[in-house]
Amino acid sequence: MSDVDLLDKIPNNVDLKSDRKLKRALERWQPDFIDWWQQSGPAEYQDKDIYLRTAIDVDAEGWAQFGYTKMPDYRWGIFLATEVPGRVIPFGDQAGQPVYRDVPGEYRNVLRRIIVNQADTEPASVEQQRRLSATAPSLLDLRNLFQVNVEEGRHLWAMVYLLQRFFGKDGREEADELLRRRAGDADCPRILNAFNNPCPDWLSFFSFTMFMDRDGKFQLAALAESGFDPLARTCRFMLTEEAHHLSVGEVGMARIVRRSAELMAEHPGRDLRELGGIPLELIQKSINYWFSYSLDLFGGEISSNAADYFAAGLKGRFKEEQKETEHGALNQVKRIRVIEDGRLVDREVPLRNAMNECLRDCYIEDCERALRGWNRELEKAGAEVRLRLPERTFHRHLGEYGHAHFNPDGELISDIDFHRRQDEWFLTDADRRYLESIMKPCLEPGKIAGWIAPPVKGVDGKPFDFEYVRI
Ligand SMILES: [Fe+2]
Ligand SMILES: [Fe+2]
Repeated sequence: MSDVDLLDKIPNNVDLKSDRKLKRALERWQPDFIDWWQQSGPAEYQDKDIYLRTAIDVDAEGWAQFGYTKMPDYRWGIFLATEVPGRVIPFGDQAGQPVYRDVPGEYRNVLRRIIVNQADTEPASVEQQRRLSATAPSLLDLRNLFQVNVEEGRHLWAMVYLLQRFFGKDGREEADELLRRRAGDADCPRILNAFNNPCPDWLSFFSFTMFMDRDGKFQLAALAESGFDPLARTCRFMLTEEAHHLSVGEVGMARIVRRSAELMAEHPGRDLRELGGIPLELIQKSINYWFSYSLDLFGGEISSNAADYFAAGLKGRFKEEQKETEHGALNQVKRIRVIEDGRLVDREVPLRNAMNECLRDCYIEDCERALRGWNRELEKAGAEVRLRLPERTFHRHLGEYGHAHFNPDGELISDIDFHRRQDEWFLTDADRRYLESIMKPCLEPGKIAGWIAPPVKGVDGKPFDFEYVRI
């Protein structure tokens, strides 16, 4: 085991006991965090034993220790990936220089903004998912929801550590604000728009973990390249946990698709609503909504902020360090589609200004891979319809496409057209009522709700009928 202190009130591998001031500040924040968790974390089952994994170290044996825990007793800790000796800034103007072990004065505000924006999404998603525990389709799914939630809590800890350790009084204030904002609150909302959207049913939950957590993966990956080494090490470790969230989403959607395809094959021509299943059209609508919102999270297509972050060595490209490429990204261009005189045209943009789009490209590619998997489920069942991702211009709220309207094929359309066709593209009130009507809790070990297929594998090598939550 590496230098992990598990006996501390706050388990950590950052030698907290030798920094009394920081330790005190974090211990002062801890009860507020627990209050927030009680108010805004899962609405039910807080007093039940859940089969959860807890990180107790950052190595292969330590990062996933399974056992029964009540959520409020979960050991939220501060874990950074092991320091790489001699690591250098991998990209930007200072590429090749030793990494920053502390915050460079000139980048203080920028770094704080990057960290706060990332941090804010972690508690936000817990808040958005708060009510889902009432309608879980199986014990295993209920357990997975809680696993995702406690780990988002830990990610908040990871970011709050950075704020309190490196940003003094400002950092402590930001840490308090993170517990004050609430997803969807009219007066004090979360920072990024998409994290204020409701996530009322499990189709939304799986879409959310598929698309929104996957955005998180790419943001964390870009920050894991950072020349600010404590941020890079924090994000590297978060990525190991984040992988589970993405698979909950991707596999969850695949299971819904499998079940719908089964029902379609067994009852050709029938409306799946009569059979308690989820029609593919509703799945497609959920994809349209969450995928398009997740694209916004990458920021504008042409961005001087992104260029500055890259130049400063703060936020890199996906897998920058592994890539055999020119890490300065100078004297290169990227083609971006922009709107000019009411038409979409290609414009060449200096590569550094297109960093958000580079990251979005990698993300979209990963989403397309998942969609191919879902479509294989349909193919296997003999269905002819296929699911798809809308084009990147569709239903955007910021950047080059935020001021116009597009159809899912990416064609410019009028405002009137866009609003007229809402019901075709997004869940309607009737769709939501239907989803609500079929989402009843199914909590007997080994049982599964009728609208989703059981998973092929259980958790931690346990069977599907294992008692993942002791109700
Ligand atoms: Fe997270
Ligand atoms: Fe996550």
